[in-house]
Amino acid sequence: MVLGLLLSASGLPAAAFRPVAARHAMVVSSEPYACEAGLEILRAGGNAVDAAVAVGFALAVTLPEAGNIGGGGFMVIRLAGGECLVVDYREEAPAAASRGMYLDAEGTLIPGASREGVLAAGVPGTVAGLALAHRKYGKLPWRRALAPAIRLAARGFPVSFELSQSLLADRDSLGKFPESRRIFLRDGRPYEPGEIFRQPELAKTLRQIARDGPAAFYQGRIAQAIVATIEKHHGLIQLSDLRQYQAKVREPLRGSFRGYDILTVPPPSSGGVGLIEMLNVLEPLDLAAPNSYESIRVIAETMRHAYADRAAYLGDADFAPVPVRGLTSKEYAAELRSEIPKTKAEVAVRAGRPADFEAPETTHFSVVDAEGNAVANTYTLNGSYGCYVAVEGAGFLLNDEMDDFTAKLGEPNMFGLIQGEANAIEPHKRPLSSMTPAIVVQGGKVRLVLGSPGGGTIINTVLQVLLNVLVYHMDVRQAVTAPRFHHQWMPDQLVMERWGFSADTLHKLEGAGYQLEMRDRMGACEAIEIDPTTGWRFGAADPRAAGKAAGY
Ligand code: DON
Repeated sequence: MVLGLLLSASGLPAAAFRPVAARHAMVVSSEPYACEAGLEILRAGGNAVDAAVAVGFALAVTLPEAGNIGGGGFMVIRLAGGECLVVDYREEAPAAASRGMYLDAEGTLIPGASREGVLAAGVPGTVAGLALAHRKYGKLPWRRALAPAIRLAARGFPVSFELSQSLLADRDSLGKFPESRRIFLRDGRPYEPGEIFRQPELAKTLRQIARDGPAAFYQGRIAQAIVATIEKHHGLIQLSDLRQYQAKVREPLRGSFRGYDILTVPPPSSGGVGLIEMLNVLEPLDLAAPNSYESIRVIAETMRHAYADRAAYLGDADFAPVPVRGLTSKEYAAELRSEIPKTKAEVAVRAGRPADFEAPETTHFSVVDAEGNAVANTYTLNGSYGCYVAVEGAGFLLNDEMDDFTAKLGEPNMFGLIQGEANAIEPHKRPLSSMTPAIVVQGGKVRLVLGSPGGGTIINTVLQVLLNVLVYHMDVRQAVTAPRFHHQWMPDQLVMERWGFSADTLHKLEGAGYQLEMRDRMGACEAIEIDPTTGWRFGAADPRAAGKAAGY
């Protein structure tokens, strides 16, 4: 039955669904050159953190829609010995930000203000985050980890079909900003697949970061370039915002599910809280067959609850009280479980804007090395190509992460997510994220490393891939390939991947009162599973993106 679903999902022969096997180490990323960069560093004697740094910088060159040095993210690191931490390198609101900054005099949201142009940008965290991870755990020199990215930027690489399409899709917005137009649209002659894309300014920027460390970015020439660009376009980020930015080491958020330990991210992401809350609710339930009417119904109702809680309670816990312990407790889960309707969906369709999440603009990569150290990293510019503004002379784009704040109470963000007071804009606060990099541990050893892009859908993607492995015993490639669905409380609709579900199941769900919304694809989960008995590493790049799993 599983095979049938998979075949109907893509039309590829079953053999294409085998995971990539390696005895020692594995990298999985949504972009092949970045995957190779990580593998190069592992083969050169680097550990998982060195490789993650290499992949992170390489993606900033080869996947400009999401890979970045002008954005931010979260990294979960678990060392083979059991030590585990989270690097929170989420962007921050600049000091001059305020809760009404995207509203006009009447209190109405100014269209696009939090999405396009420099006012949408938060203070970037990526360079500080990767540097912090490397300073704590890296084995190879920092310069060595940046070498593949510098090479890719300086020598260039052949543009893939996907990159050429992605640039074309955003050409109108990129075209509004001359520096972005020059770099990414070659001043009106967009790159064709196979043409070489060289980025000399970015290579120079990366060389400076390789030589001087994060100070080059937050204090030196690059900081000056960022501030000059921001001033030119009347933004808010100042040199002092860059100087004070710090990536934060956080305790991972821990949960348990049927004997497995879950390690994931705390606020300012809602991802970990949502994932653990949902796993707690589902833990004792009979989840029937994967993607059957009955399992979809129960899981969708669990999603509805978790996303309602996200809207009500989640924000940056350094600024607003967030009841993390309660939301992730087994007792609270028992209460929610008792509220899952026995047969029908609680249909209360209210107005909302459908989430637009067809393009995976964020990106996740997973790394496991020969010692068993593991890294799950999700980072982003938020929307594709962030706020579309490239820093002049420095070759990289700034994010539009400010859109993840509650710009106005009751108004959805670009992912259709309604958010609350806890996520209101304040100086230096970090906007609420859904990014959910996660590591599953079994008997003291890493079993699964995973994460995904997809805005508000991320938490549900990670949940389903995790259930596919731990409950339904799919191999990791089947688990990331299997069709997915999504409920986020508001708008009250059940989003289904278009070709993955039988007409009978869809019919039953509609009969039960669900308003179905069909989407082409959801997320791009890049995952590694370690066989608990043999230690073999199995990598799976999600077929929804054109990525790669490779190991040795
Ligand atoms: O942090 C977040 O939740 C969002 N900024 C992620 C954006 C994203 O996944 C875009 N990709 N679809």
